[in-house]
This record gives sequence, structure tokens and C-alpha cells, in this order.
Amino acid sequence: MTNTSQKDERYIGRDLKAFPLEIAGSDGSYLIDKNGQRYIDFEMGWCVGNIGWSQNEVTEAIKNFTGPTYVVPGMPGYMYEPWVELAELLAQITPGKLTKSFRATGGTEAVETALQAAMSHTKRHKFISIEGSYHGHSLGAMSVGGSHFREWYPNLLEGCFKIAAPLNDAAAEKVEKLLETKEIAAFIAEPIICNLGVEIPTKEFFQRVAKACKANGTLFIVDEVATGFGRTGKLFAAEHYDLEPDIITLGKALTGGYAALGAAVMTEEVAKSMAFGFSHYSTFGWQPLNAVITLANLRALLKRKDELLTNVAEMSEYFKQRLEAMPFKQKAKVKIKGLAIAVHFEEEGYAEQIVNTAFENKLLLQQLSPTALTIFPNLVIDKSTAKEGLDLLEESI
Ligand SMILES: Cc1ncc(COP(=O)(O)O)c(C=O)c1O
Repeated sequence: MTNTSQKDERYIGRDLKAFPLEIAGSDGSYLIDKNGQRYIDFEMGWCVGNIGWSQNEVTEAIKNFTGPTYVVPGMPGYMYEPWVELAELLAQITPGKLTKSFRATGGTEAVETALQAAMSHTKRHKFISIEGSYHGHSLGAMSVGGSHFREWYPNLLEGCFKIAAPLNDAAAEKVEKLLETKEIAAFIAEPIICNLGVEIPTKEFFQRVAKACKANGTLFIVDEVATGFGRTGKLFAAEHYDLEPDIITLGKALTGGYAALGAAVMTEEVAKSMAFGFSHYSTFGWQPLNAVITLANLRALLKRKDELLTNVAEMSEYFKQRLEAMPFKQKAKVKIKGLAIAVHFEEEGYAEQIVNTAFENKLLLQQLSPTALTIFPNLVIDKSTAKEGLDLLEESI
């Protein structure tokens, strides 16, 4: 046992014991351990490092930062130019008529703000979400996450209805019935559900739900914390369905991992309902250095948007073809949209076995559930690195 692993066990609060890997550096598609050993990263922090780790444009912005240590965000707070630049950019690139950004330190806080805005706007307090989904670990976010959270926290928000996959016409009908009660503040979902192992709803499902939300005064929230910024082959996964949400929640690849920052971007109309005393406050939401780094990351990503989305389409085909042809020891179902990828097995245990063997082979994957693993390569990955990783995966099955 190394010194760090002993101290990790003693001092770091965790759900499970850490993997025996001490990260010391990162570079593009690779994580590097303390001894200089390189691992191909097919997780990228779970949809965080979309343009690869340790990009020059972003590391330069960190080195060159000369801004203030801190700017007070509220009550009523001061102004800061990078805040408006970032918010303006988000208004320009997000789908539909989203213009106002509420600052957050990450995805969970963005989801919390979205739920609160929906309650303030509609004066209702019930929600509809997808069974088994994940929107963060706060009490509000867990309330709209999978029902399993209630085993540990039985008194989460009441009136949170869960719709089970597959998300098709039959599921849309269930949502429509619930919406007709006119008691629902918001429907919230990831457009492509990474947290359910890349569950892909039908176009009809989302179009019916969006229409019924509008008809019944319910807000439509898309959580793009994981899917945002190119992961599924469009800049935002909502674009696959022509959705115009009332609120979008962002985090993860928005910063690329260099900063701790999230955003709930909403329409002017919904934002108005949050214009009351102390409706929103986050001491470190868009802290100056974090905001400047995020801007640098986002600009670097947008500069290569077309090339990146083309690469996602090409690499998606390659991963699909390789994974579908892989001689897994169990029947495998590959679910893939862009470079959001999951492999599902029939029996428990095999996914974990593959992840552990891949780790020994210097390939990093993540187990999603007892029967599934996820693969989230970076979106600028070249064919030779993709091949190297997939070859290692094939050796690990
Ligand atoms: C879809 C989705 N929403 C929200 C979150 C929470 O984001 P964070 O961990 O930044 O608080 C996550 C995190 O994995 C997520 O995947």
C-alpha cells in the first residue's frame, strides 16, 4: 500500500474504495500515473474532457490570468466582464430562446436552480422525470433521480413521478396523462440518457412530451450536464429532437475539467420568476478564475466545432462496428449515440470483470451498473488511439 492509498482510505470520504491508480498528469486521451505509466482514458471524467486533457489554449489562460481574486455575485453583487461574455455565448449556442444564465459551481447546483425556477414560475411543486435517471446528489436532484434514492432518503420531494424506459409512444401517453392534472411544475430529462446506459428516446416521445408540457403550463427542462458540448454528435443532444426547452442545465464539458462551474440557462420569461429577493445565490458560482478558464475551454471547443462533430460521426461508426463485432463472452447490446457509448450484458459481474482487466491492460473504462459499462472517449480522438484502446478492450474481454 502506498502512502497516498493509506491516507486516502483514512481521510477521504468515498462510497467505494479508490481504484489502485494515483493520477499525476494528463495529456489528450491519456491519464498518467505517478510512475509515468500512461493509460488510455475512455471515460474522460464521465463526459468532462470533450476536447482532450491539458489543451494548450486553456492551460495558457490559466497561466495568464490577471483578474480579481473574487467578485461578489449577489445581494445585489457586482459585475464582471467574463461573466457576461460567458452568458452571452451560452445564449447564442444553446437551443431555442434561452438567454439568461444562472451561475452554479457544477451540474447539481444547476439542476437545483432549474427545479427552483420551475417551482417559482409555475407555482407548482411536482415533477416528472425518468426512472433510474441521475441529475446530481443534492436532495432536489435526487428527488427527480431514480426511485432507488428513496431507500436512503425516504423524505425526498413528494410528487415526483418517474417514467420507465423504453421512452416511446406508450411512455409519452403516461406523461401526457400526468400533465393533464396541471399540477406538474416541470418535466426533466437528459435528451439521450447517458446515466441509463445511453438510452435513446424516440423522436415522437420527446415531441409529444414537449407539446403536452406547453399545453399544460409545465416547463420542459433538458439536463445536458453529460450530453452537452458535442458528446452525442450535436452540440446539444436536444437538437436531435428539435427541442426548445424552457431551461437547460450545463456543467462537465462546459469547463473541460479545468474549472468547477455549471449553469442553468433559461428563457427571459422563466428568469423573470426568479427576480425576487435572494432567489439565487452561490458564493463560488462562476468564481472569476473558473469563469475565465471556462470561457477559454468553450472558445477552444467552439473554434473546432465542425471538425469535432465530423470526428464524432466518424469515430462513432468505428466504435459501433468494432464493439458490435467484439467476441464478448456474454450476449452484448451496444447502445451508442455519437461518442456516448454503453455496452449492456445479460448477467451481472461480466462488466466489472472487463473493467478490471482493461485497467490491468492500461485502458480506463467505467462500470455503470452490475450489467453495463460505459465508454466516453474524447471527441477529438484520432483513429489510431481509438484503435489502440479498442484493441486493449478486445484483449480484456
Ligand atoms: C445528467 C447529469 N446531471 C447532473 C449531474 C451532476 O453534475 P455534478 O456532478 O457536476 O454536480 C450529472 C453528473 O454526473 C449528470 O450526469
